[in-house]
Amino acid sequence: MKITYLGHNTHMIETRGVRILTDPFITPNPMASGIDLGTLAPNYLLLTHAHGDHVADVEQLAADKDVTIISGYEIVNYFAERKCKGHGMNIGGKYTFDWGTVKMVNALHSSAFPDGTYGGNPAGFVIWNEEGCVYIAGDTALTLDMKLIPEICPPLDLAILPIGDNFTMGYDDAAIAAQYVQCHRVLGCHYNTFDVIHIDTNSAVQAFESKGIELLLLNIGETLEV
Ligand code: NI
Ligand code: MN
Repeated sequence: MKITYLGHNTHMIETRGVRILTDPFITPNPMASGIDLGTLAPNYLLLTHAHGDHVADVEQLAADKDVTIISGYEIVNYFAERKCKGHGMNIGGKYTFDWGTVKMVNALHSSAFPDGTYGGNPAGFVIWNEEGCVYIAGDTALTLDMKLIPEICPPLDLAILPIGDNFTMGYDDAAIAAQYVQCHRVLGCHYNTFDVIHIDTNSAVQAFESKGIELLLLNIGETLEV
């Protein structure tokens, strides 16, 4: 599994010949101005919730009929009305695609579209196949439900956690989240995009290090492998 950080909570996951893009927020993000939406060519869009900083580029990317949105039922319905194809799920459910399994897990946050439409409950996802297992937390607070993930999913190779505070957990809480999900390799996201989520990255790395956890902070466009 190859994972490329594209800013905020946007990641391209490449595995078994498919390209899965999470929460596309590229054109409104000045930090991601070097990324060309037209070259991303995802097969799937994995959407954690309906907030604008997670769905901004969905319609443009899903206008291609070969793109499938994987998300909560309400979000998939919203985009179905806009002629986008989707696979609706809900929290606690999993589904095995021909490239791997996706399990929708709890997130403690809110979820409404920028136009006010109800977006259902926000979620995280755990995706796995024989190449690896990755937890995409989405926007969430630290929650005790995270302790369930090691019980109901394969061992995690990577946890993608928000660390920017204010709208989600900050890095101190995220370091505890990493312990709850029993993952010692974390990719930080949802930080430094806006002033209110600006963090000191050295302090963030130390907060994880003090618990024996590696915090990876990638430059936009940079890739890691699990
Ligand atoms: Ni949000
Ligand atoms: Mn957000």
